[in-house]
Amino acid sequence: MIRKFTNSDLDAILEIEAEAFPKSAYNGFIFLYYAEAYPDNFLVYVCDDTGTGLSELSEIVGYIIFYPQGHIVSIAVRSAYRRRGMGTELVEAVLKRAKGIASVEVRASNEVAKTFYKRLGFSLRTVIPRYYGDEDALLMVRTGMI
Ligand SMILES: CC(C)(COP(=O)(O)OP(=O)(O)OC[C@H]1O[C@@H](n2cnc3c(N)ncnc32)[C@H](O)[C@@H]1OP(=O)(O)O)[C@@H](O)C(=O)NCCC(=O)NCCS
Repeated sequence: MIRKFTNSDLDAILEIEAEAFPKSAYNGFIFLYYAEAYPDNFLVYVCDDTGTGLSELSEIVGYIIFYPQGHIVSIAVRSAYRRRGMGTELVEAVLKRAKGIASVEVRASNEVAKTFYKRLGFSLRTVIPRYYGDEDALLMVRTGMI
């Protein structure tokens, strides 16, 4: 299930972040900033045996942060849970709220993310040189309804 972030999710989110972005992980202050500034736009994916998210064995396995107009700030899924559609569900939650319109910056070298967003209907709008300091970003945009 997908629900809003609560502060008790922070440790799990930091683990997911460190694994997904070893060279550029957000720290706890950044996550708490987004949680406070955009409480409706910081979602977590909770996986458990029952599918309710209420089991004691439930685990946070992914997250997405986005601006209200649909710009995705960050998304990651724990590596052991990838390729099961959870990332897609997280982006679809954004698309539902933003009427199918969304955008995201992707590292030029992140082939997985490029494939992932293309499959979700995003296409390349422009390249932003040295957006990440050492690397260009691709601005990918989705304009249609879902
Ligand atoms: C990008 C990410 C969030 C995708 O999450 P996920 O839960 O694995 O995504 P899904 O299972 O919904 O994948 C949907 C589709 O994306 C594509 N895709 C996802 N991972 C892929 C991979 N490793 N190789 C090729 N295609 C891939 C496939 O088309 C896939 O559909 P399929 O499994 O039916 O072939 C995840 O790989 C991740 O956390 N990566 C590290 C962090 C990151 O790069 N975030 C994006 C920054 S902009």
